[in-house]
Amino acid sequence: MEHNIDKIYAQALNEIEHTTSIEAVQDLNVKYLGRKGIITRFLRNISRLPADERPQAGRRANEIKQQIESACHQKLAILEKDGPDFVKRIDVSLPGRVCARGTMHPITQITQQICDIFSRMGFEVVEGPEVETDYYNFEALNFPKNHPARDMQDTFFISDDIVLRTHTSPTQPRVMEKQQPPVRIIAPGKVYRCDSDLTHTPMFHQVEGLLVDENISFGDLKGTLTFFVHQMFDPDTRLRFRPSFFPFTEPSAEVDIQCVSCRGDGCRICSHTGWLEILGAGMVHPAVFEKVGYDTSRYTGFAFGMGVERIAMLKYRVDDIRKFFDNDIRFLNQF
Ligand code: DAH
Repeated sequence: MEHNIDKIYAQALNEIEHTTSIEAVQDLNVKYLGRKGIITRFLRNISRLPADERPQAGRRANEIKQQIESACHQKLAILEKDGPDFVKRIDVSLPGRVCARGTMHPITQITQQICDIFSRMGFEVVEGPEVETDYYNFEALNFPKNHPARDMQDTFFISDDIVLRTHTSPTQPRVMEKQQPPVRIIAPGKVYRCDSDLTHTPMFHQVEGLLVDENISFGDLKGTLTFFVHQMFDPDTRLRFRPSFFPFTEPSAEVDIQCVSCRGDGCRICSHTGWLEILGAGMVHPAVFEKVGYDTSRYTGFAFGMGVERIAMLKYRVDDIRKFFDNDIRFLNQF
């Protein structure tokens, strides 16, 4: 009799192991453990055994009952997790969930394009701190003590001597202090001014350029910026250099390009002048060279600085600078 129930047990385990569906496991559960199941009937018939065999047969049958039960449970758990039923319960033909892929922010893209163009002319990309000393932001750049740019209305002061840099120009003296000419650098980064309207935000981006060597002339500046504009905008875009003033350059110029919209005829974008201002530039003032210990009889150089948002607005015809910082995905996805 005992021999018989062990055989049944072996057979049950074998059958459970070879099931491939939840229903099949449930059927086996009924077959062996159900009300009319093989094990149940065996237990019911124990009373017919000789009295001395009953206790041991009962114990063995109960053990086997529990083991079949747990084998069924384990198999169910496996099938529910990843058995062939899994494929049936999940519709594998449904389209997957699409991951939204990010894109580079338009300001980052334009910054990189600017740096790429100058890198091709041999300029090295450098960066300076956004929290800057009054010395590098103003003093070393020949800003007199009472210059209006130092005014509370423009500059964010951290303390009397520490400011949020108002331009990327402080990278010029920082680099020159550490290195003798030739210098050929481009310095992108964030700058801060207490200003906010359609064309100004308190934080914006600039790219600074500086080239110092022997025999550098205003002609080199013109050639370099013309190449840049022709790479960045249409290759036949005209440029105009207007006399201007910056404390750290002499002579200084503001550079205009032919309006990207009307090509010079005059329209709303260029305020009917046909020209758009894109950057400030000039020949490095000897006072700046003196502060960093450069020999002014031997070296000359040029510098320029441009606003990245301004270039991006002109290139992409965006009329409100604040759109770049609203982080509206519908706007940003277009670039
Ligand atoms: N730093 C100036 C500004 O923020 C821009 C500028 C003008 C930079 C002339 C220069 C330069 O390097 O030579 O308005």
